[in-house]
Amino acid sequence: MALTNSSLRLAIVYSSVTGNTEQLAEMIQKAALDQGFRTELYRIEEFSLAAILDYDVVLIGTYTWGSGEIPEEMHSLYQAVEKLGRKEQWTAVFGTGDSFFAEFCGAVDRFRDMLYVKTQLVATLKVELTPQQNDVLRCEKLIELIREKEMQMFSSKKHGYR
Ligand SMILES: Cc1cc2nc3c(=O)[nH]c(=O)nc-3n(C[C@H](O)[C@H](O)[C@H](O)COP(=O)(O)O)c2cc1C
Repeated sequence: MALTNSSLRLAIVYSSVTGNTEQLAEMIQKAALDQGFRTELYRIEEFSLAAILDYDVVLIGTYTWGSGEIPEEMHSLYQAVEKLGRKEQWTAVFGTGDSFFAEFCGAVDRFRDMLYVKTQLVATLKVELTPQQNDVLRCEKLIELIREKEMQMFSSKKHGYR
């Protein structure tokens, strides 16, 4: 269901080896497009770090590696966001993992902790391995949180709050 178009520009940047996080990223992109957001999807290798500044909302997708670790190819994005420290930037982090491991989706937790401090973290989402049909709803909910925050911002601007 397409709602009225948003003025926010979203980037989804993800890393995926076996395709689980890629599927989740695509589900989130569909939810965002359906809810009227201008949304671009990038694999991390295709994303220019300088482009972070072009987006109002950056949604970061990562699988987890080693023992709860962020995969190597995501380190430069982590460091760039941490260094920029833009409190006006809205972010979300999502990922897939395997609860067999001690730190389920540990990379999502590590991004979350940094994004919470350095940006306005709006949402997190963790999925067990391959996304399922019921995860569509969770992706829609994640995007709704961005929509709600946008509406709150619009409403406080209208009433003269900053
Ligand atoms: C060597 C190795 C280490 C992993 N370590 C973790 C881990 O610590 N925590 C976790 O939740 N998942 C872990 N996983 C599982 C992957 O994160 C999971 O399979 C994920 O869905 C892969 O995402 P992708 O299909 O997008 O590549 C590990 C997988 C491998 C192969």
